[in-house]
Amino acid sequence: MMSRHELFIVLNNLLPLFILVFGITSSWDTPTLTEATKHDVGRRKLATQNNPGFISIDCGVEEDYLNGETGIYYKSDKDFIETGENHDISASASRNNYYVVQWREYGNLRSFPDGKKNCYTLKPEQGRNNSYRIRASFLYGNYDGKNEIPEFELYVGVNYWDTVRLPSLWYMLFLDIIYFFTADTGYVCLVNTGLGIPFISALELRLSNESAFNTTYSVALGNVRASDLGISSNHSFRYKDDGYDRIWQPLQFPSSVPISPSLNIANQVDDLYKVPAEVLRTAIQPVNGSRSLNYTYYSSRFPFSQYLVCFYFAEIEETARQDRLREFTITLNGFKIGPITLEYLKPLPVSSQNLPVQGVINFTIDATEESDLPPILNAMEFYQVLPLPYSPTDPTDGDAIMAIKQTYNINKDDWQGDPCLPKEYTWSGLTCRFNGTPRIISLNLSASKLTGAISLSFSNLQAIESLDLSYNELTGPVPEVLAQLPNLKVLNLSGNKLAGSVPQSLKDKSDDGSLVLRLAENPDLCQMDPCHDKEKKKFVVPVVASIVSVLVLIFFSILIVFCMIRRRRQQEPLIKSSEEGSFKSKNRPFSYSQIVKITGNFTTVVGEGGFGKVYLGSLNDEAPVAVKLLSPSSKQGFKEFRAEVQLLMIVHHRNLVSLIGYCDENGKMALIYEYMANGNLRQHLSDTNGNVLKWKERLQIAIDAAYGLEYLHNGCKPSIVHRDLKSANILLTESMQAKIADFGLSKIFLTENESHISTCPAGTPGYLDPEFHCSGNLNKKSDVYSFGIVLFELITGQPAIIRIPDCGVHILQWLSPIVEKGDIRNIIDPSLQGEFDVNAAWKVVDIAMSCAQPASIQRPDMSLVLTELKECMAIEMAHGRTQRVLSNMTTSSNSPEISLLNVDSELNLLNPIPR
Ligand SMILES: *[C@@H]1O[C@H](CO)[C@@H](O)[C@H](O)[C@H]1NC(C)=O
Repeated sequence: MMSRHELFIVLNNLLPLFILVFGITSSWDTPTLTEATKHDVGRRKLATQNNPGFISIDCGVEEDYLNGETGIYYKSDKDFIETGENHDISASASRNNYYVVQWREYGNLRSFPDGKKNCYTLKPEQGRNNSYRIRASFLYGNYDGKNEIPEFELYVGVNYWDTVRLPSLWYMLFLDIIYFFTADTGYVCLVNTGLGIPFISALELRLSNESAFNTTYSVALGNVRASDLGISSNHSFRYKDDGYDRIWQPLQFPSSVPISPSLNIANQVDDLYKVPAEVLRTAIQPVNGSRSLNYTYYSSRFPFSQYLVCFYFAEIEETARQDRLREFTITLNGFKIGPITLEYLKPLPVSSQNLPVQGVINFTIDATEESDLPPILNAMEFYQVLPLPYSPTDPTDGDAIMAIKQTYNINKDDWQGDPCLPKEYTWSGLTCRFNGTPRIISLNLSASKLTGAISLSFSNLQAIESLDLSYNELTGPVPEVLAQLPNLKVLNLSGNKLAGSVPQSLKDKSDDGSLVLRLAENPDLCQMDPCHDKEKKKFVVPVVASIVSVLVLIFFSILIVFCMIRRRRQQEPLIKSSEEGSFKSKNRPFSYSQIVKITGNFTTVVGEGGFGKVYLGSLNDEAPVAVKLLSPSSKQGFKEFRAEVQLLMIVHHRNLVSLIGYCDENGKMALIYEYMANGNLRQHLSDTNGNVLKWKERLQIAIDAAYGLEYLHNGCKPSIVHRDLKSANILLTESMQAKIADFGLSKIFLTENESHISTCPAGTPGYLDPEFHCSGNLNKKSDVYSFGIVLFELITGQPAIIRIPDCGVHILQWLSPIVEKGDIRNIIDPSLQGEFDVNAAWKVVDIAMSCAQPASIQRPDMSLVLTELKECMAIEMAHGRTQRVLSNMTTSSNSPEISLLNVDSELNLLNPIPR
């Protein structure tokens, strides 16, 4: 049997290519009932009615019930959805269809012949800010007698989850996702894409907060596959064996043999992974003679997907107790984990944590040389990291439109789920604005049979520009609050039964032309006064005109100033290299005893870098310095150390952290740097104490860093490739000037080491050039890539690898889909609170995107990056200026000329002033 679209491709040297038949999201083939039930005997208990943290919905049934077989209490779906029709397939199911007989919830389904989007509304008890494992199940069973399997899309909240494709009429498909509820209400929507009528068999939620896998608002963990290894039957384990109700499916691991099970696996109470003992009882080891297990997984549907991988080990062989060592390492996509040894009967989970496992999952588990026994593996789980690029409609708008829907009992098929998103399925009669958080900007309920008074909920649609309630049966007064809607331009209330007088504030707005107000055909409504004269309008026009002309003038003046400055700057040499003299050159190299003295016997640690701890020191009781004590992780020492460091000491630039001296004495190595009072950029971006870096400061840091890197690349002969540029390597002076640190070091120190997780001799995950291969070399363009990532950190405030518990998602994977849709407001650091110029921000995003191109040939040179960044600053400054000039004009008598002088002096600060 072939799965629907996913293939496990298992490569192995010894045996021919296996193509395993499991979809990552799909179930195993349907075994016969007799075979399956044999294993269940004695394990089932009647459950209590309540499963805390569970919401189990059987779609297409009328009554709630307790499934005595599984111990799960199921609710009818009628309280969760308003549309669709029920169907029963249990009668037509062949009598040994495993699912329909075993699990009653799959014997019924609800189908949705009407409407493009049909949504289940989920209100988990625990409410917002909780993670849930959501499982949607689909068994077609030819319920409509058409023998045509439909295909449709599934959304979680406002984001795409997966496409439902079933390979056969009686195929059972489970789709799992671990999802974080940002609001009290969540949705699972089925979207008709024209390939048949959507349906669903069951929808289940399990609270996942206490597990190792809860998620955050920006990503979900989807399409889970939990594999039970070494089991000889087709049996799968789930609730109650698994408290999280994962479904553990047997997997035939290539070139492996099962190990005979032992009896008692100790289940640890504090183990967040909580793998059932039943699953850990069996394991596999390599076929005779081999000392390694090898596995490759690739999804052709999601070729760039990122994964979280978990391995589960438990020693289940008695022999391993009797002084026979079992020790092994895992190599997962080039990252080495281990060595690992096991304790008898004690489970050991190993997860890929923050390793960026992307595109392919490829792992080898190798016995170490010392090991007497081959490696084993008891179980494993794969999760796909699903970015959630969209955020739901503004909650105030959402609540308001929900209230309106309820008040007037509006029964429109498509008024389900989020009002604005997905964009293609915005509720009919609604228009939304999509830059940033979606807002409702127009609502047309003309001729919708609305009765009763005009609800105050309309006035909660604060972004609305047009409201059409014409030709309904609305009664009562026209509420005055409608006049307080700041953006309302059209209000049509014609053809109703409204009474009373029209509020003066609305009349005023209509009179001054800011609101088109339609009130015709309301017999009981007092007619409006005849129009006032248009004096106000006459006054407004000349003021607007004069403001515009002043702005134009200012803009051109700024341009001229800029050109002058730039010309002046081009005449200066861009970089002046040497700045000797400020430190006594005779002090380098230093002896170790001098280092001890400088640091006061290593009293104050100010940081910990990639190559060792950094101490505060003082040179001749003068300037503070930072002393990096290198911790040699390799036995050979560093042959090139002295030569290389002497080279680095002659590199000087105001945006590079100066190396003042070094020590290399009997294997004790230290570097002395100028002291950077404000720490590193990463700390500032992660700062939660409210000391948020302002947008302009961020731009300036980007420019500073670009100067430094540009100098390394183009100003030094031979040019220096940094190889490990990251926000943690960009340091800040007391006055927040940015300087690049640790340049040139990776060449000396990033050699293969024997640490716990060893990578290729290069960079930091998250910043590493995707074109880089372990055997290859890092070049200037690799630095440009890393710089692009740093730019994105500045823009978003997020780290290069966004941490979610036990997993990480690469910043590009999170933001690329959002940027592609043009929603840059959704990626910009919310702590900036909108205080930035959108045009400048767009430009920085563009630059960052071009730097972070996967193909190095498409990345620009640093000199171009620098030029572009300076233009961003110019846009930003012009923006700040115009705003300030405008407010000056209204509040004080400051003339534009004075403001222009300020522009000049402020721009001068931006120039790199060579010391
Ligand atoms: C509202 O919809 C009706 C028809 O459904 C249309 O005639 C009317 O122009 C619409 N109103 C606005 C403001 O677009």
